[in-house]
Amino acid sequence: MNKKLRKAIIAGNWKMNNTPAQTKKTINELKPLVEKCKKCEIVLCVPFVDIQNAVKAAKDTNIKIGAQNVHFAEKGAYTGEISAQMLLECGVEYVIIGHSERRQYFGETDETVNKRVLAALNAGLKVILCVGEVLTEREQDVTSEVVSRQTKIALLGVDKKMLKNVVIAYEPVWAIGTGKVATADQADEVCGIIRNVLAEKYGAKAAEGTTIQYGGSMNAQNSAELLAKVNVDGGLIGGASLKPADFAQIVKNAQ
Ligand code: PGA
Repeated sequence: MNKKLRKAIIAGNWKMNNTPAQTKKTINELKPLVEKCKKCEIVLCVPFVDIQNAVKAAKDTNIKIGAQNVHFAEKGAYTGEISAQMLLECGVEYVIIGHSERRQYFGETDETVNKRVLAALNAGLKVILCVGEVLTEREQDVTSEVVSRQTKIALLGVDKKMLKNVVIAYEPVWAIGTGKVATADQADEVCGIIRNVLAEKYGAKAAEGTTIQYGGSMNAQNSAELLAKVNVDGGLIGGASLKPADFAQIVKNAQ
């Protein structure tokens, strides 16, 4: 098991926060704080309408821009939706797919997650695929089954070459936005389970090379311990990504 085989990625998930003007200001504040950080990739996943300003503000820096969802069709009568091609043309490199808030509030299923993953990868986007159990599933001791199922279905039709553009984020739903963080051992254990699922399908080498993040109330204080774990290769950060100083500290802790 060797952490050096994979890239550390710290990604911010702004969710429905920051207007286009606030986007410019926040990224301009963040830039000098992370400019010397070369060892980990830095991504900000912003609301669709903020993408243009985010891409402009992050130009020629080490900050990459992502979106928070993508539709699976190439184009057509899907009012309110955004295609992979539209994102690419705006300068987006990453897209979050299957976030638990989309699964909980917007009818996302393992099957639609799979369709979005395929559409995004085929178009040339990199995917941050979110999986994670809800509290009752953890209490019933079925976390392993749940994340294994979510991972397997999401990756149907994804071959080894495509896997290179997939990052997986383990996000226990009970830890998201609650301030109730998983212990470093819990995070490491489940990220390891996900890595085993990848190893079964793609072989040990491909699994060892895949970045698996932890997400759920990660912050400037608890990130060092989580990120030190062998199976935790980065973080998907919600609340703390809105504060440049806190987000920069997490990036530093991933170095
Ligand atoms: P949080 O969100 O850091 O605010 O818990 C994480 C996420 O939902 O990606």
